[in-house]
Amino acid sequence: MELNSRIYVAGHRGMVGSAIVRRLQSLGYHQIITRTSKELDLRNQVAVDSFFESEKPEYVFLAAAKVGGIQANNTYRADFLYDNLMIQNHVIHAAYTHQVTKLLFLGSSCIYPKMASQPLQETALLTGLLEPTNEPYAIAKIAGIKLCEAFRDQYGCNFISAMPTNLYGPNDNYDLQNSHVLPALIRKFHEAKINQQSEVMIWGDGSPLREFMHVDDLAEALVHLMLHYNDRLFMNAGTGVEITIKDLALLIKKITEYSGELVFDSTKPNGTPRKLMDISRLRATGFEPKITLEEGIRAVYEEYKQGIGVSIR
Ligand SMILES: NC(=O)c1ccc[n+]([C@@H]2O[C@H](COP(=O)([O-])OP(=O)(O)OC[C@H]3O[C@@H](n4cnc5c(N)ncnc54)[C@H](OP(=O)(O)O)[C@@H]3O)[C@@H](O)[C@H]2O)c1
Repeated sequence: MELNSRIYVAGHRGMVGSAIVRRLQSLGYHQIITRTSKELDLRNQVAVDSFFESEKPEYVFLAAAKVGGIQANNTYRADFLYDNLMIQNHVIHAAYTHQVTKLLFLGSSCIYPKMASQPLQETALLTGLLEPTNEPYAIAKIAGIKLCEAFRDQYGCNFISAMPTNLYGPNDNYDLQNSHVLPALIRKFHEAKINQQSEVMIWGDGSPLREFMHVDDLAEALVHLMLHYNDRLFMNAGTGVEITIKDLALLIKKITEYSGELVFDSTKPNGTPRKLMDISRLRATGFEPKITLEEGIRAVYEEYKQGIGVSIR
């Protein structure tokens, strides 16, 4: 990828896509092609094809997707399966027909079987049943990985995939119905502080272990993979560091300077007890995550307070 290469970042207004654009710009790439979903609905195959025909991207980061937390995934099961299949089918197929040099498809750690042994290794894919709440989303993402592999096998396309762990950062979703745990906690603690609430309720008993990566670290990893990784097997992307939901809540309580109590609602589901990526293969390519969780959450909370990069959809 040269500095004047034509690079399409699909989903550039999202948390991951916007971080990829920032990373590319900081490195001097200056032909970055973007479209909002209003300008180009990636579920429309004809529109996608004519976009590739006219713009002729040479590199594609596929970070457009229908994304959400456990509740959204479980409620909008048809939309999560259908929209994601359509988006990725059209973009990956157009990348093949219009001879894109290289494409990077973004999946997620939810592709792994619910009972896969931890830390999650790439080889655990399709070795067991998925978590039922986000099965439609995971099935779409697994189909995306397989589509990239199949275009590589049959047509020799250089299509690679990366599976990020839980992410946070600028342009995250803070909607309490649809968001992931970390931005939801930031919003809950911030609002509890402003409204002088005596307690903050946390879903579950606080025991699950989770891994969180700042999206700027991820974007650095993705550009690194686009430059240096050309193999068939998809790549985990994470930090290799885990924390309990309780300790995460305590960390956010400290950062938001909230003085009330934490209350755990054990009637709500915990989800998978532990979810940690094995990132030894990513490390072996020469990438190392840099942003600690405390540093990252402090930066995100400053932005949240100032309304920078914060969208409440
Ligand atoms: N967030 C996480 O914690 C996380 C973790 C692991 C993996 N990932 C993966 O990273 C990728 C991006 O996630 P994200 O968190 O950046 O999501 P996001 O903030 O919700 O952004 C998704 C983007 O996709 C675009 N999009 C959605 N439907 C579209 C359509 N029909 N046509 C065109 N564009 C469409 C949206 O464009 P507009 O803004 O223009 O509507 C939006 O900017 C996804 O593949 C996701 O699976 C995310």
